[in-house]
Amino acid sequence: MELPFAESYKIKMVEAIRKSTREEREKWLKEAYYNLFNLRSEYVYIDLLTDSGTGAMSDKQWSAMMLGDESYAGASSYLIMKDTIKKLFGFNDFLPTHQGRAAENVLFSVLVKEGDIVPGNTHFDTTKGHIEFRKATAVDCTIEDSFHPTKYHPFKGNFDLEKLENVLKSNPIEKIPVIIVTITCNSSGGQPVSMQNLKDVYSLAQKYGTKVFFDSARFAENAYFIKMREDGYQNKTIKEIVKEMYQYADGMTMSSKKDAIVNMGGFIGFRDRKLYEEASVYNIMFEGFVTYGGMSGRDMNALSQGLMESTEFEYLDTRIRQIAYLGERLKKFGIPLLEPFGGHGIFIDAKRFLPNIPKEEFIAQTLAVEIYLESGVRAVEIGTLLADRDPVTRENRYPAMELVRLAIPRRVYTNSHMDYVAAAIENVFERRDKITKGLKILQEAPIMRHFTVELDRA
Ligand code: F0G
Repeated sequence: MELPFAESYKIKMVEAIRKSTREEREKWLKEAYYNLFNLRSEYVYIDLLTDSGTGAMSDKQWSAMMLGDESYAGASSYLIMKDTIKKLFGFNDFLPTHQGRAAENVLFSVLVKEGDIVPGNTHFDTTKGHIEFRKATAVDCTIEDSFHPTKYHPFKGNFDLEKLENVLKSNPIEKIPVIIVTITCNSSGGQPVSMQNLKDVYSLAQKYGTKVFFDSARFAENAYFIKMREDGYQNKTIKEIVKEMYQYADGMTMSSKKDAIVNMGGFIGFRDRKLYEEASVYNIMFEGFVTYGGMSGRDMNALSQGLMESTEFEYLDTRIRQIAYLGERLKKFGIPLLEPFGGHGIFIDAKRFLPNIPKEEFIAQTLAVEIYLESGVRAVEIGTLLADRDPVTRENRYPAMELVRLAIPRRVYTNSHMDYVAAAIENVFERRDKITKGLKILQEAPIMRHFTVELDRA
């Protein structure tokens, strides 16, 4: 008999989780104003809100923490991180930050000015937030296929090179300080960008005289998809692929809470020493001295070890297969999903799931609420709430897709948990015709409203 697939780790420490009743959940959700971010985590049975900062660290990461050097300046933990970044990505200089959006804040303080244009492949919301906060414009240049939930494309995170070149050609280049390549592309479903596309984007940037930075939160998952799907990479290691990917970037911002498998942390990698020096000033102002920037020594140690582990094939294979396992189960039941399955979660196509809810009533949020009420599983809306209002007209922006993301934390849940999640969603699917009312907004913040919005039944 051929031996089946099994996880590439065993479990050494556990945390108890608790189920709840439907009545309890009704009450808690009402108190949370139908915003799942407002729920206490103890009210959640399986938490798929995010894969960010929710991973389980390894024994090697925990032991590296004990060796953390907490010196204010020049800590060995900083030097280990510098070495790791150089080895994996090829960048000589880096700045530690407390998380990904802090890296964006520091970098964009140098690069992005009012009136600028920042092309990208569906910028993540904090990235877009930091661009729009500076009265600059984020222009989405993702390929058209990316907006069709069932259309197969192996690299749905790719840039449409024609769209990108048009932006570069039709604007003064000094207004385009940087192109942001998000790997994998979170907002469009954890979809990867191919090596060829990374190469082509970089050569366009060079041709027109601008820079490329990778928003690298899930760079290792991106490398896994290159290995599995792109010709010529099958026999390369993940680390070799990562090294090649970063030849096509002038730098990177990193939310280490994802593919560095730590609970907090981030950094910026730089090819250009001068840019590093300019950014250092902001890092000192916003984050901390250049050799710790918002992180303790032990956290930098865990981060460096995490980067080495997340770029191992066995780890990635376990992770991506678990996501596909959940996806396949839901697909068999006829649940409309975004395909192919992405890197960090399964994305449900809420428009097809709940055709009776008008877009003004927040289709994806309505579905996320129903899944929680059914089962205590917490997912997250990637739809109209997240898309926010247009900064100029203040009108709601209705995105092409209304998605519910089931983000899978790293090394945390077993496939039995995945079975529970699938059954919960299948139950909601069976009663979908009875879900005819969505939600309305009671209160919202002027920017990044989805975190704090207060809602009620429409
Ligand atoms: N870039 C991408 C692609 C992200 O997915 C995130 C965070 C960030 C930047 C910001 O990093 O949270 O460390 O400040 N994404 C989380 C998520 C919040 O749930 O997808 P951060």
